[in-house]
Amino acid sequence: METVVLAVNPTDPEPDVIARAAAVLRAGGLVAFPTETVYGLGANALDADAVRRIFAAKDRPANNPLIVHVPDAAAARAVTAAWPESAERLAERFWPGPLTLVLPRRSEVPDAVTAGGATVAVRVPAHPVARALLGAAGVPVAAPSANRSTQLSPTQAEHVVAGLGGRIEMVLDGGPCPGGLESTVLDLASSPPRILRPGLVTSAEIEKLIGPVMRPMGPLTEKAPMPSPGMMLRHYAPRAVLECVADGRQRVDELQRQGVRVGWLTFGAAAGMDVVQMSRDPAEYAARLYAVLHELDAAGVERIVVDLPPDEEEWLAVRDRLRRASAHPR
Ligand code: TXA
Ligand code: MG
Repeated sequence: METVVLAVNPTDPEPDVIARAAAVLRAGGLVAFPTETVYGLGANALDADAVRRIFAAKDRPANNPLIVHVPDAAAARAVTAAWPESAERLAERFWPGPLTLVLPRRSEVPDAVTAGGATVAVRVPAHPVARALLGAAGVPVAAPSANRSTQLSPTQAEHVVAGLGGRIEMVLDGGPCPGGLESTVLDLASSPPRILRPGLVTSAEIEKLIGPVMRPMGPLTEKAPMPSPGMMLRHYAPRAVLECVADGRQRVDELQRQGVRVGWLTFGAAAGMDVVQMSRDPAEYAARLYAVLHELDAAGVERIVVDLPPDEEEWLAVRDRLRRASAHPR
């Protein structure tokens, strides 16, 4: 299949471009599009055959459910069977934006979307292209990140084409995604609510609105093992082996003495090839992380050393992704 790549204005999307993409979705095809977090791979969420094509294109295991993207809270209520006060408060405060809510599903949502489970994940994206596409398609859009399963999420259209070119109908190229990390996933169907995936909306912000939530992460120490067997799965991973260390300089020197080509994400000044100076601001760091890892992979480094970010709430999502990227074996 030939994948059509269409450039689209990220702040003021051209209606004719959006109309073409919406027509592909309505016909059961797959369209990758930018969101404020990462690029998503969309299909009509109410069309089970279209949804199954997402799993095939990504080589995604059928037991991993998809997020349903909708234009507003009313549309979210149309696919969920319960809408607690907590959902209403969170939706008012954080939608549109990078927060996904897991709630009891309605039967109209195909099993292919929910992996046969009793819940459905819903999110209202903030990116103008995503919003325009949802409006024009007129259907809820199931969309995982637009990468092959277990690989890094794409934050640029080029990443999508590299991973899924030839496997999907269309890519809307709206430039780099501003957020850079996947949405926070909050399970409101369990009691107390539980963070399933940390993201740019923090637990502290959520707790201010709805009270205590369960948090998933233990500390990320040097070469720490994953906290639970279920999270051992290598995920969000570059091709090169990645490790987080307190003293990056020492580890980089050690690997280089062994003749290994090393990439280094450091908070210090960047000097030398494959060395990238990262921001001390967590949002800026997040926005750039995947693009940097994609670049180092493309450059052919064998190992990636990462200076350990601070053990602080606002770094939780970054530390979670680094942990998953460094989980071995692959
Ligand atoms: O930022 C994002 O969330 C991006 C953009 C495209 O919206 N999407 C994304 O989708 O990251 P994906 O499929 O790569 O990650 C969705 C996560 C997975 O960890 C999945 O297991 C979880 O959400 N999830 C989806 N539905 C669920 C459900 N019903 N119950 C529990 N977890 C669910
Ligand atoms: Mg993903």
